[in-house]
Amino acid sequence: DLGKKVVVTGVPGVGKTTVINGAMERLAAEGIPYKAVNFGTCMFEVAMKENLVSNRDEMRKLGKDVQKRLQQAAASEIAAMSGDSNIIIDTHSSVKTPGGFLAGLPEWVLRELMPDMIVLVETDPDQILTRRLGDASRIRDMEGFREIAEHQEFNRAISAAYAMYTGCTIKIVRNENFLLEKGIDDLVSALR
Ligand code: AP5
Repeated sequence: DLGKKVVVTGVPGVGKTTVINGAMERLAAEGIPYKAVNFGTCMFEVAMKENLVSNRDEMRKLGKDVQKRLQQAAASEIAAMSGDSNIIIDTHSSVKTPGGFLAGLPEWVLRELMPDMIVLVETDPDQILTRRLGDASRIRDMEGFREIAEHQEFNRAISAAYAMYTGCTIKIVRNENFLLEKGIDDLVSALR
């Protein structure tokens, strides 16, 4: 049965893109058709066209209404893609903005996407902190252990609301140091 939509989320630097890439290779080898799309990239393309930002890390600092408009544009673009393949959507349960947490999948995004499953990629906050410090390609917010832990907790809470609205399942995949392959295995099992 094609047309399955799986949303994969996690705080910045937890390694969701790394786990998705590993899973995509494994699924392709097994002949299971999945397409991966990055929600932030879809938003960024619109934001660039409108000269709103010069890098993707500036988007979460834009005004709330601008972020919502970009979010809506990305959701309808991705919804239009579905049909002939299963889709993995690489995104965020919540985005940390200067004004507080912004829902990554508010009602108008969920209505477009209607995911079958939401995956939360998690690991211990100290590991996330170290990964952020080691990734020079991005402009990360400076956060401590406690703030990262709090963001992960908030993501679980808001994902429960997403499950209430859509009837999707919530799958937690751990991506721990030295255990990337285990994380990929868990994601692949959920996606098969
Ligand atoms: P996005 O590009 O998704 O931002 P991000 O979360 O910062 O994504 P990254 O790809 O940087 O992090 P990652 O968790 O995928 O980690 P990675 O695999 O690279 O989104 C950009 C922006 O778009 C957002 O800030 C927001 O503004 C906007 N946006 C997106 N969705 C939105 C929505 N729904 N609503 C509103 N706005 C939205 O790995 C990180 C590092 O860790 C790497 O160096 C990697 O090698 C390492 N690593 C990974 N796994 C392991 C492991 N097991 N052990 C050791 N190291 C590891």
